Amino acid sequence: MTYVVTDNCIRCKYMDCVEVCPVDCFYEGENMLVINPNECIDCGVCEPECPAEAILPDTENGLEKWLELNTKFSAEWPNITVKGEAPADADEMSGVENKLEKFFSPEPGEGS
Ligand code: SF4
Ligand code: F3S
Repeated sequence: MTYVVTDNCIRCKYMDCVEVCPVDCFYEGENMLVINPNECIDCGVCEPECPAEAILPDTENGLEKWLELNTKFSAEWPNITVKGEAPADADEMSGVENKLEKFFSPEPGEGS
């Protein structure tokens, strides 16, 4: 198994998760992060750190598309290990539904 980043990360991108991951397996897109499932050691430390509750174990039902998305984009986006500044409207964006359809960007972030 692995943990995966899901819908509510998009445009929230708080980045508290990167500070606690012992194996630095987060990768940065323009407006969300993903986990590399091949590097994640399933420690679970990041899950409670995310203010958007966007990190889930892939053992939960219905997360196949997120596992695919995390796998695909962690191979394309740069690694991130240092917390940056969240978007100014992150709190307003938390809880908005269907962000994948509305706001997902395949563009890479800057990494750190
Ligand atoms: Fe990193 Fe652990 Fe979260 Fe996996 S579960 S992404 S290893 S902090
Ligand atoms: Fe995203 Fe939560 Fe990390 S919003 S960037 S998964 S702390």
